[in-house]
Amino acid sequence: MIVAQITDTHIVRPGERLYNRIDTADFLARAVAEINRLEPLPDVTVVTGDLVDTGAPAEYANLRELVAPLRMPVYVIPGNHDDRTALRAAFGGDGYLPEVGFLQFAVEQFPMRLIGLDTTIPGDHRGSLCAERLAWLDRTLAARPQVPTMVLMHHPPFVTGIDFMDRFGLDNAAGFAEVIARHPQVERILAGHLHRAIDRRFAGTVAGTAPSTAHQINLNLNPEGPLRFMFEPAGYQLHLCQDDGGVVTHTAVFGDWPGPYRFRAE
Ligand SMILES: [Fe+2]
Repeated sequence: MIVAQITDTHIVRPGERLYNRIDTADFLARAVAEINRLEPLPDVTVVTGDLVDTGAPAEYANLRELVAPLRMPVYVIPGNHDDRTALRAAFGGDGYLPEVGFLQFAVEQFPMRLIGLDTTIPGDHRGSLCAERLAWLDRTLAARPQVPTMVLMHHPPFVTGIDFMDRFGLDNAAGFAEVIARHPQVERILAGHLHRAIDRRFAGTVAGTAPSTAHQINLNLNPEGPLRFMFEPAGYQLHLCQDDGGVVTHTAVFGDWPGPYRFRAE
């Protein structure tokens, strides 16, 4: 089983550019086309938050059109730029989101179980996992302890060293770690938010963030560093779920690059 992960698509209204500069719809259309051309085709695509930029229904309508060509099931979770109500209205018809409350869900029909978490706080860019959300996660993980599982969340549960983004991090990583440590079937935690690929050991598993389909956040580990974005190659991750339940993660970039070439002339 292969899980494709894209994230931080930041879709705006049709014809607009994010920050008057970034054509996020064009970037996402390219991502969708390239994922559709992968062989083997991923079994599922997950989008780990910041689906749109302001949470407006018109942005979600634009997003739905852009992801409609994907040839596999798509699951989305919210990020700090999303709006729960508008997201639910746009994607509720797909059947996996609860009708009320936090946008948390479990996907059961694949060999790898997928659990989506909602780390958002309305009106705030920071992330949170309150007691109610953690209790739901604990119960949900306890229900199928033998099934290898990925947990999807927008805010990574660790400090990255990119200080400006860490100020908008997750508020209860310690409580989350306690829950995860009780459930060793969690093979990987998939996050977004950082607009680049970062990994860390976490509570007995591996947690990581994926690149944005559009703009990347400048790699600057200076604590005084300002928040800047870059047009580094945009990318995605392919999580290859192996027969022993383990997960291998490949980080790749979009775009037309020279190659592939043979190593020797023939
Ligand atoms: Fe983002």
